[in-house]
Amino acid sequence: MTTKLAVFASGTGTNFVAIADAITANQLDAEIKVLVVDKINAPVVTRAKERNIPIFHLKYKDYDTKELAEASLVTELNKYQIELIALAGFMRIITPTLLAAYPNKIINIHPSLLPAFPGRHGIDDAFTAKVPQTGVTIHYVDSGIDSGSVIAQQVVPIEQTDTLVSLEAKIHAVEHVLYPTTLAQLINHN
Ligand code: GRF
Repeated sequence: MTTKLAVFASGTGTNFVAIADAITANQLDAEIKVLVVDKINAPVVTRAKERNIPIFHLKYKDYDTKELAEASLVTELNKYQIELIALAGFMRIITPTLLAAYPNKIINIHPSLLPAFPGRHGIDDAFTAKVPQTGVTIHYVDSGIDSGSVIAQQVVPIEQTDTLVSLEAKIHAVEHVLYPTTLAQLINHN
């Protein structure tokens, strides 16, 4: 059975594209039923429109609390009978409201070897720390910041010659393979 997937994103959307392309290439038995964004001007929105994927703009400021915003999101996701949620550069903390509706069904990608360098600047922080290697982590989402249990990791060595720009490019290249393949493994084991 084709898994009904929701992707949540706030930005550029290269991971969204990697997942969508893997589906098109029959490498991932899923369908992106909806893209959830918190910013309607994010470039990822254009990428979803190009692929005729429905977009749901969650306007957090229209709700008194984040929990109420997420309750309306759960109603929307239920319409699509969503089975798995992939966060792909979604810059918001998920609360227990959404976590309870999708236990162990919300996955995130983070550009470091967690638990090292959580937070918004995982690549920059690893580069500045001059560690010999960093990488990419796919993990389950909990209510903390990049703190859920790890599903998959891939190391990216930091060479003497690397700049922040070259390291970012290497990390993103790994992300675009690791995310779809990990999603495929999760889907195939369910
Ligand atoms: C990626 O580096 C991802 O690991 C992080 O946010 C970035 C999103 O990039 N969580 P994009 O929007 O998928 O291009």
